Amino acid sequence: MPRLGVNIDHVATLRQARGGREPDPVWAAALAELGGADGITIHLREDRRHIQDRDLRLLRETVQVRLNLEMAVAPEIVEQAIQAKPDQVTLVPERREELTTEGGLDVAGQVDRVGEAVRRLVDSGIEVSLFIDPDPRQVEATIALGVAAAELHTGRYAEAPEGPERLRELEALSRSGEALVAARIGLHAGHGLNYRNVIDVALIPRMAELNIGHSIICRAVLVGLTRAVREMKDAIDRASAAPIDC
Ligand code: PXP
Repeated sequence: MPRLGVNIDHVATLRQARGGREPDPVWAAALAELGGADGITIHLREDRRHIQDRDLRLLRETVQVRLNLEMAVAPEIVEQAIQAKPDQVTLVPERREELTTEGGLDVAGQVDRVGEAVRRLVDSGIEVSLFIDPDPRQVEATIALGVAAAELHTGRYAEAPEGPERLRELEALSRSGEALVAARIGLHAGHGLNYRNVIDVALIPRMAELNIGHSIICRAVLVGLTRAVREMKDAIDRASAAPIDC
């Protein structure tokens, strides 16, 4: 059964919307662990739009399962990762204007740059995974770099309408997965996975890790809303029942 890495970036996005202290992604990580998460995934973006340096520091101290840090191939962030020492770094492409990570890392097009970041991270004892599209060129370049793992981008699969198009995307994931596993590279996947489309991806032979964020946080908002409203009603009721000082 694949490990589940819970991506908590969206909790930080909600906090940043008000610039305050809640909800705290450090609390969210602890709750995700209590729920059975096998790992906590965060993306320290160069623009710091959600996860902050303070979150990385505290999460490194408090997370007891695997901490997976997604980050760009940028020297300053590589340096920060080396200081923080997450269990795993997943190198992703990053464009400032994108809503979320769009497309996989172009490993084939920048072998030297990616290779240099991989070497620095591995030398400091961090496992490295590359987030790539299920594209034979990228798979080949990833195998040549000999990283510990590759995370296949499931975005196109998740967005494809059910039927032949979705099946084609699933086949591309399976074929890339097979090549990676044959080269003894750990097989991970993520992006756009939800409670329904995750099944077929989890069934890909030797799938070792799935990183999922958006759909879990969306579900948490909805399944938790009734209780949250009830608790606010209770707080208001208690205030009305309290004796008035005179
Ligand atoms: N894996 C990677 C590399 C990502 O960049 C993201 C999005 O931050 C995810 C997994 C999780 O994607 P989602 O939030 O759509 O589940």
